[in-house]
Amino acid sequence: MRAIKRLLTAFFLFLVFTAKADEGMWLPLFLQQLNEKQMKAMGMKISAADIYNINKGSLKDAIVSFGGFCTGEVISEKGLVLTNHHCGFDAIQNHSTLERNYIRDGFWARSNSEEIPNPGLFVTFIVRIEDVSKAALAGVNEEMKEAERQSRLDKNIAEIRRNLKKEATQDSYVRSFFEGNQYFLFVTETYRDIRLVGAPPSAIGNFGKDTDNWMWPRHTGDFSLFRIYAGKDNKPAEYSLENVPYKPKKALAISMAGMKEGDFTMVFGFPGRTTQYLHSEAVDQIVKLNDPVKIAIRDKALSVIDGFMRKDEQVKIQYAAKYASISNAWKKWQGEVLGLSSTKAVEKKKNQEAVFRKRVEANPAFKAAYGSLLDDLQNAYQELSKYGVARDYFTETMSRIEAFAIGSQLNNLRSIKEKNGEQAYKDAVPRISARLEDLYKEYNPAVDKKLFEVLLEKFTKDQPEEFLAPELRQLAMDYKNDFGKMADDFYINVDLLNNGAKVLANLQANPDLVLAANDMNRANQLFQQLNTFYAKTVTPKLSELQARVNRLQRTYMKAQMEVMKEKTFYPDANSTLRVTYGNVKGYQPRDAVKYDFYTYLDGVMDKYKPGDYEFDVPEKLRTLYKNKDFGPYGKNGKMPVCFIAMNHTTGGNSGSPALDARGNLVGLNFDRVWEGTMSDINYDPSICRNIMVDIRYVLFIIDKYADAGHLVKEMKLVYPGK
Ligand code: ARG
Ligand code: GLU
Repeated sequence: MRAIKRLLTAFFLFLVFTAKADEGMWLPLFLQQLNEKQMKAMGMKISAADIYNINKGSLKDAIVSFGGFCTGEVISEKGLVLTNHHCGFDAIQNHSTLERNYIRDGFWARSNSEEIPNPGLFVTFIVRIEDVSKAALAGVNEEMKEAERQSRLDKNIAEIRRNLKKEATQDSYVRSFFEGNQYFLFVTETYRDIRLVGAPPSAIGNFGKDTDNWMWPRHTGDFSLFRIYAGKDNKPAEYSLENVPYKPKKALAISMAGMKEGDFTMVFGFPGRTTQYLHSEAVDQIVKLNDPVKIAIRDKALSVIDGFMRKDEQVKIQYAAKYASISNAWKKWQGEVLGLSSTKAVEKKKNQEAVFRKRVEANPAFKAAYGSLLDDLQNAYQELSKYGVARDYFTETMSRIEAFAIGSQLNNLRSIKEKNGEQAYKDAVPRISARLEDLYKEYNPAVDKKLFEVLLEKFTKDQPEEFLAPELRQLAMDYKNDFGKMADDFYINVDLLNNGAKVLANLQANPDLVLAANDMNRANQLFQQLNTFYAKTVTPKLSELQARVNRLQRTYMKAQMEVMKEKTFYPDANSTLRVTYGNVKGYQPRDAVKYDFYTYLDGVMDKYKPGDYEFDVPEKLRTLYKNKDFGPYGKNGKMPVCFIAMNHTTGGNSGSPALDARGNLVGLNFDRVWEGTMSDINYDPSICRNIMVDIRYVLFIIDKYADAGHLVKEMKLVYPGK
């Protein structure tokens, strides 16, 4: 009986703790040690050393962090870089005018001389990665207060970087892994002359827009092309006409074969942030409190903005980018709540915690070190809860109201004048003017006034008194909770909120006057009162509790690694280079609903709505479709568009290459499926899928749609299986 019980327990543990084949964002330098065997078993035909090797060119030398927020990959010997349309969008937007509308019509450089520079844009290669945990944590102990620990770490890290042997053109950073239990050094090389080479029209690059965002089946050609320019020595150089196309250590070869169900894929890139090792209480709060609060506030904001966008063409242009970015996270959180609930993530965490607790209880050394850990975490998160919600209300409300952003810019200017003197003040005026100019460009007073009304009303009605500034309560009383009337009074006749052009002119002529007007601006007065109150009542408690939670989570991470020896752990995403791998596969999101793993141009045409903001299809694409004129890129009379696989990705993986078993480029990552966005917290192989554009669709658009076949000629196409 005992033996059977033990066997059952062992089996149960195996089920709970075996890292699933598709879960994990792995550090390239440990692939050989941790993953290679499994990757090969799943179908990989190359070795870990072909992926990451510091002694000779390997796949990692083709991967770049694109501008620090996305991923890109080198796909030609002349420094051509592929990334997403939504990653290159800023550049595309910046070069667009009413006459040359690259957002609407796309852009294609016909020669190197037509490629457009993008000041401020950069790409970063990873030269090598080193474990520097020992040196970083030298002299750090558990008795230290968090602040003391941090300052010790900062000193150690500065020292590590100072002593580092690297070339003059290289740089470095050190990042914390496993919640501060390990530290890794990244030697980097950054190129800053990055030129726009090509982008499809938004009707292809962002086909389906917000309606299709985070959704499968998907039909978006989400790509754009850039080129890295280097000095004559092939080293990084500031922008110059003398610069030449960069010669890479490695350029990805492109496979024309396409993917079949079950095929091995891996995604190589810079995932931004995940939280896979949270306590169940934290996950419970995300599902029940934090996500719903943020979603509800954004519901309000989006419906206000959408209402105005539908009525007014000008507002539609002004607020398009803002709307897309507010709705992106809003939609993701909804998928997250759905997925965490449907996969019973909290229950799963609780089961794991029960096993952890049992093992700790059974081992005196563990018990002494970790006996109270789970309860401490539970308590700390419970105490944190209401402050976390207050933070969500505050940030979601304050950052939606542009009147506050305008006030904030001018308050900064005032504080520069007071703290740094006349000269610094004079120097700062153009900078602040430029920011305000950007702000006013995408600002409409009627929209903002409505947001002010609706969001502050919600802020006031929803929250307990302890989180409401006395001035706000007084206002609500004075106005008998008529926030519409209050907004009218606050916005009427205030130049700062109604006449950006005049403000910008005044700022040049007499900035003191603008600062005085800002002090009189009631919206700004309220903004400062709300800020002061928040800084007094929420910030200190939040920082204190967050420090406590961080410390406990760090210990919990270490404890899990010691107690759950059979499990292979991977560090949470932190914008460092990672590899994730998994097979091409469809999924079943709900009872009786089953999704295939490929989409085709036929699906684009099914969704086609003439003249629609989201689902219009350019005429030329319709003609190519009608004539089945797919060149060498189609297959069996069909043009593949997107596919999904089980790769564990997150924000920042946009633009990451999807590679086949031999390391050839087969797709471009750009999204995840809605039901599976909870993979940031709880990856579940049944419903978590990443979405990629088929590389053949990218080539088809470049060659057949845009007649830019000269770019395809730069690339190396391979035909596996032929
Ligand atoms: N959901 C993707 C990501 O998180 C794509 C966002 C861009 N596309 C859009 N329709 N907003 O970045
Ligand atoms: N679209 C996301 C990005 O911009 C990638 C999708 C995801 O979050 O997985 O990085």
